[in-house]
Amino acid sequence: MTRIHTRVIQAALFASIGICTPGLVAQAGNDIHFDESSKVFRIDAGGVTYAFGINDLDELQPVYWGGQVSGGDKFAAATKKPEAASFDSSVTTTPNEYAGWGAGLFVEPALKVSFPDGNRDLVLHYVSHTIKGDELTITLKDVERDLFVEIHYVVDHETGIVGRSAVIENRTKTPVTIEEAAAATWSLPRGTDYSLRYLTGRWAGEWNLQKQAIRPGETVLESKRGSTGHQNNPWFAIERGEHPDEESGDVWFGALAWSGSWRITVEQDQLQQVRVTGGFNPFDFSYKLLPGKQLETPVFYGGYSRHGVGGASRLLHHFELAKILPQAPKPKPRPVIYNSWEATEFAVNEPGQVALAEKAASIGVERFVMDDGWFGQRKDDHAGLGDWYVNKEKFPNGLKPMIDKVHSLGMDFGLWVEPEMVNPDSDLYRKHPDWVFNFTGRPRSEQRNQLVLNLARNDVRDYVFNFLDEILSHNQIAFLKWDYNRNWSEPGWPAVAPDEQKAVYVEYVHNLYGILRELRAKYPQVEIESCSGGGGRVDLGILGLTDEVWPSDNTDPFDRLRIQDGFSYAYTPGVMMAWVTDSPSWANIRSTTVAYRFLSSMQGSLGVGANLNKWTPAEFATAKELISAYKGVRETVQHGSLYRLVSPRDGSEVSVTESVAIDKKQGVIFAFLHSSQMGYPFPRVFLRGLDAKLNYRVTSIAGALAKDTPVVASGSYWMSHGVDVEMRGDFQAAAFRFDSVTDTNPSH
Ligand code: DGJ
Repeated sequence: MTRIHTRVIQAALFASIGICTPGLVAQAGNDIHFDESSKVFRIDAGGVTYAFGINDLDELQPVYWGGQVSGGDKFAAATKKPEAASFDSSVTTTPNEYAGWGAGLFVEPALKVSFPDGNRDLVLHYVSHTIKGDELTITLKDVERDLFVEIHYVVDHETGIVGRSAVIENRTKTPVTIEEAAAATWSLPRGTDYSLRYLTGRWAGEWNLQKQAIRPGETVLESKRGSTGHQNNPWFAIERGEHPDEESGDVWFGALAWSGSWRITVEQDQLQQVRVTGGFNPFDFSYKLLPGKQLETPVFYGGYSRHGVGGASRLLHHFELAKILPQAPKPKPRPVIYNSWEATEFAVNEPGQVALAEKAASIGVERFVMDDGWFGQRKDDHAGLGDWYVNKEKFPNGLKPMIDKVHSLGMDFGLWVEPEMVNPDSDLYRKHPDWVFNFTGRPRSEQRNQLVLNLARNDVRDYVFNFLDEILSHNQIAFLKWDYNRNWSEPGWPAVAPDEQKAVYVEYVHNLYGILRELRAKYPQVEIESCSGGGGRVDLGILGLTDEVWPSDNTDPFDRLRIQDGFSYAYTPGVMMAWVTDSPSWANIRSTTVAYRFLSSMQGSLGVGANLNKWTPAEFATAKELISAYKGVRETVQHGSLYRLVSPRDGSEVSVTESVAIDKKQGVIFAFLHSSQMGYPFPRVFLRGLDAKLNYRVTSIAGALAKDTPVVASGSYWMSHGVDVEMRGDFQAAAFRFDSVTDTNPSH
C-alpha cells in the first residue's frame, strides 16, 4: 500500500473517532519539536497542539493547548507574568508545567519536599532535554540543591493524547521527604467560561456525571482510600463556552493512571487562569527518598477535542483500546460470559455449577465464571478469605471435573479471587496476624468482616503471587475475576521505621501492579477483570494490566443505562461488563422483560448473571436469539465509536446510544423508553458517524421501526432524516443494526 493510500485510510479512521488530521503532515515519532530561538517545545499530533517554553526564569511555562495550529505559526517565547501585587508574586501568577513549592508559590505545587535541615524551599529550573521519537524528557533541578526531576511527555500520534509523568531523584547526600508529588499540571487558555465534568458515586451507585461552572477557588477530586474508589473517578473534562453540547465545542480532558489514593485539583487562580494538577494524594502521604533513589509518579494523560464531550470520550476509548489495554492495539472482543454470583452467591458446588453451565452453554455463552464461595471455609462473608485451597465439601474432586465439563460444553472457565483480603476467621490470619494493615496496639476495623493485607510487604506479595501461580498452573483457567471489597483503614506498616510507613500508598500499588504484570507474563492466555465491589477500581493504571472491569454491582437494567452512560465518558464499552440478571432486580425491586435486560447489557460487553434454573423456555429462546444478535454487532459495540444520542441522565424518559464500526460499515442503535406519557410517540432518532455516501440496510434486533422506514438508505438519510422507533409503554427497548450494502435494492 502506498503511503498516501495509508494516510487516506488513517484519515477516515481518525475522522470516525473525531480526530482532525490537518494535512496529516506529521509521522509518528516526529510529533515533538523544539524551537531553539524561542525556546518553545511543541507537540503536534492527532489534531492537537501542545506547547510550552523555557521562560526568562528558566522555568517551564505553558504556552498553548488546543486545536492544532499550522506548523508555520510560531509561538512567541514564554515570558514570566509580572507580579500582580505584593500578594501575588510572579511565581504564582506565571503558569508552570511542573512547579516546586517554594519562592512564594500560592497555587497548587506539583512537588513539595522537606530536606533534613529544615529547608522546604524548592525552585525547579530547566537543565536539559532530549527528544526521542514520541517522547520528550526534560530535566529540572532545584536552584541550589541536587534534587532533580525528570518530566516526561509521551504523545500518542493518533489521538494527540499526551501522557505526562515525573521521576524525582535525590542526588544529595541526605534523605529527602517528599510530601506531595503530582504527575503534571495542565494549564488551560485563560478564561472564565469553563465548566467541569467529573464522576461521582458509591457502592451500587457509581458513574454519576457531575457538571459545574469553574469559579475562583479549587475543586478537589480525590480518593484517600488506598485505591481508586467508587466515590470519585480519576477523570475530568473541561468544556468552554456557555452552551457546549455533546458533539461540538472545545473540551480538555484527562485521566490519571493510578489505582491508589489519588488527587486531581482543578483551580481557577486569582488571575482567572485554570490549572489542573494530579498525582499521588498528599493526604497522609510522605515518601522518604534516600540518596541516589528515585520516585516515579503515575502518568496523567491529557487530551483535547473540538467535538464536544462526545468527541473527547471517543478519543479516550480509542486510546484505551489501542494504547492502554494489555492486548492493545487489537484487544480480543470480550466473550459472552456467565457469572454465578447473583444465582448462587456463596452456595457454589460442583452439581449446581455444572447445571448452570449446561444452561449457559445452550444460549451461546462463551465463558463460564464461578464467583465467590469455592475456597477455604467460605460459607458466607465471615470466613475463608486468604485460604486459597479448594473447599472439599463443595468440590470433593477439586475443580478439574467441573472445568472439564465447562470445556466440553464449548466454553472456557473463569474463577473469582480476592487476593488482597483476609477474614480474621481464616488459617492465614491465625498464622500471620501481622500481615494486615494495623497500628500497633490499636483496633483493626473490619468491613464486610475482612481486613486488608499489606501488599507493600514483600512476604505478602510473594504469598499472593504464589497462590495465584499455584491455581493457574494446576487448572485450565482462562480468566480471573480479581475482586477487592473494601477500602483501607488504620494503614499502619509496623514492620518498617515510622518515617517510612507512609510509603505504603506507593509500594502497595507497585506490588499490585508487579503481581499482575508477572502473572500476565507467565500466563499470557489468562484474562483478568478488575472488580472492586463493582466499579471501585477502574482507572487507566489498572486497565494497563487487566482486560475488562465490572462497573457496578447494581445490575438493575434501567439504573444500568445511567451507570453505563456515566462510565462511557471516561472508559470504553469494550471493557464494560454488563450482565443480564433476574427480574425483579434486587436493587429496586423493578420488573423488566428479559429482552429489555438484554438490550441494556448489549451496549457493553455482554454477560449473563441470572439464575438460569428459573428461566422459562420462552426466556431461553429470547436469550439465545439476542446473544446471537449481539455476536453480530459486538465488534462495533466494543471497539467502535460511541455516540450518546440521547442521555438517560436528569430523569430523561428516553435514551439512545449508537455505535459505529471504525470502518463505518456498520452502525447499531439501542433505544430505551422509561414510560410513555400522554400517548406521545418516541422522539425521532438521528444517527451520527455513518458514511454519508454509503448505503445501509436496517435490520431489527428487537422492536420495530415506523412502517414507512426504507429498508436501505444512505448514511446521509439515516443521519439527516432519522428513524422513528415504534415504542410505547413502560420499560420498553429496541435495537437496530445498519449494515453497509453495495446496492440499493431493498429485496437483497
Ligand atoms: C463483589 C463483586 O462486585 C460481586 O460481583 C461479587 O463478585 C461479590 N463481590 C462476591 O463476594
